[in-house]
Amino acid sequence: QDNVRNKIIEAHELAAKFYHHILNNTVQGEEAKRYLIERGLTDKLIDQFMIGYAPVNWDVLTRFLMNRGFDPKLLEKGGLISVKNDGEGYYDRFRNRIMFLLRDRNGKPVAFAGRIIGEGQPKYLNSPETMLFTKSRMLYNMDLARSAIKKVKQIVLFEGYMDVIKAWSAEVHNGVATMGTALTEEHCLLLKRHCDEAIICYDGDSAGQAAAYKSIPMLEHVGIKVLVALLPKGMDPDEYIKTYGGDAFRHGVIEQAVSVTKFKLIYLRKNHILSREEGRNQYIVEAVKIIAELDSSTEREIQLKELSKEFDISLDALKQDCHEFRIQQQ
Ligand code: GTP
Ligand code: MN
Ligand code: MN
Ligand code: MN
Ligand code: MN
Repeated sequence: QDNVRNKIIEAHELAAKFYHHILNNTVQGEEAKRYLIERGLTDKLIDQFMIGYAPVNWDVLTRFLMNRGFDPKLLEKGGLISVKNDGEGYYDRFRNRIMFLLRDRNGKPVAFAGRIIGEGQPKYLNSPETMLFTKSRMLYNMDLARSAIKKVKQIVLFEGYMDVIKAWSAEVHNGVATMGTALTEEHCLLLKRHCDEAIICYDGDSAGQAAAYKSIPMLEHVGIKVLVALLPKGMDPDEYIKTYGGDAFRHGVIEQAVSVTKFKLIYLRKNHILSREEGRNQYIVEAVKIIAELDSSTEREIQLKELSKEFDISLDALKQDCHEFRIQQQ
């Protein structure tokens, strides 16, 4: 069993080098290379993250690895190749895609995510789940980010591979991402072993916001303190860095991450028209509900005071409501 694991890892190592070589040194890889450079990646980043290109051919990787003595059954088990429909022979799983190598937290290459060049569906094709690759446990870049995470006891959580890589280029070295799937309890427990604090930095669209709402209690449940980084509407971290640069991202987005309460209040505010009495009243009631979720009575008081000042309502009335919401929430 250990032998099979090692062989699958070895196959991924070779496959990654093969795809990387095609991207960097062949005519077939030129379009993909141009696309990556246009998106703001550098040769150094392409090397560090071992990005590659799988050509259009049906069986280049299959032949490459079989010529090196790999058993096709093992390669299929590892998710690199598939059996042909008629049951005779094999073909490459990834064709005409930009290849992001997925390494486990010890740096062992165990899977790939292949992105289509430009528009098209599916945008990303992942390796299937194998004995070495479980999506609910995998965090992209955990291997490279580990030392930075250890140092600052904090992680930054992104939605996508490109976000992690672009953030890395902006000197944010503690970034990781899930496989496009939701954050799981296993992810959270793993993160808890390495850090005390997480900055959620999801895409600035409604999907990203909804995902943040789901991830917050999961991280808090394992005892991780959560902050949320806010991005302009419709932008993801990768686009933000492309538009405004790495320094702006670090100082203006990551370092400005807000508390969970602030995050919820900001979104609540956006959904109410405060210039109208009805919208204003609803906002205040909902805001008190959010503040009531805070564990610390000092923090509750600070937030209630702000609300009391902004809307000229007595602090006593707000405290009374807050108290009642807390009883209901139990
Ligand atoms: P780019 O367009 O290359 O910048 O990717 P993105 O990371 O911005 O994509 P998006 O925000 O749409 O999705 C976030 C993450 O979800 C991606 O990084 C993938 O991990 C995952 N994802 C997106 N589209 C697909 C898909 O079609 N299939 C799979 N399996 N995962 C996807
Ligand atoms: Mn650096
Ligand atoms: Mn998205
Ligand atoms: Mn995105
Ligand atoms: Mn993106």
